[in-house]
Amino acid sequence: MKGVVLAGGLGSRLYPLTKITNKHLLPVFDKPMIYYPIQCLVNAGITDILIVTGGNYAGHFLQLLRNGSDFGLRRLGYAYQEGEGGIADALKLAEEFADGESIAVVLGDNIIEGNIKKAVDDFEQQGKGAKILLKEVHDPERFGVATVDGDGKVLRIVEKPKEPETNLAVIGIYMYDAEVFEICRDLKPSDRGELEITDVNNEYVRRGTLTSEVLKGWWTDAGTFESLYRSASLVREGGANRMDV
Ligand code: G1P
Repeated sequence: MKGVVLAGGLGSRLYPLTKITNKHLLPVFDKPMIYYPIQCLVNAGITDILIVTGGNYAGHFLQLLRNGSDFGLRRLGYAYQEGEGGIADALKLAEEFADGESIAVVLGDNIIEGNIKKAVDDFEQQGKGAKILLKEVHDPERFGVATVDGDGKVLRIVEKPKEPETNLAVIGIYMYDAEVFEICRDLKPSDRGELEITDVNNEYVRRGTLTSEVLKGWWTDAGTFESLYRSASLVREGGANRMDV
């Protein structure tokens, strides 16, 4: 399986910090934000990684990460997203890189305490379709929210619902087979003018091939001042990307 880190966008919610570099290069305690999703993939045994970025500071990723040898990567590739078309629009740029293989996609501002090794192994067993990871949260209206049956089969996902059916947020770590690119091609922009990853996941629901697991340990995004501060505190207290969680 290959890995994709989505690190585009203008980071406008973190202005003026993002006036001088890309959001995903800002510090989260003792490391640049992008280190965490890369390490997350590496800990699951994935060492062939593409970073999709954009905006005015894309060159900073190359300066920081170079060829990825600090992480022991076999290959580190870069792609450039024009504009702000959304997560599923960024994902389209990974089609040639994936070259028919399955991919694990991590949003560049998502940080987890534990690891996704078991979920990746389970998805490899699954063989086709997609898998998402869920986490119980107190503020589900900020996220994609999933309704699941007793076996973890996803019945539906609603993006930022005003009245959430559950408190299970869809976190920014997704596993897809090669059909994802055909699905992305058929998407229409949402009300916020973006191609939504939730629409991709709901298409897998329709096809009956979307499974889910609930993530162990904490999860946070880091795209606002509050969540950036919280993620630094969580990392400082006990560390991220632990194999013993
Ligand atoms: C995106 C997804 C959402 C998901 C979240 C996780 O939201 O659209 O479904 O729960 O990432 O971080 P966004 O950050 O684009 O608002």
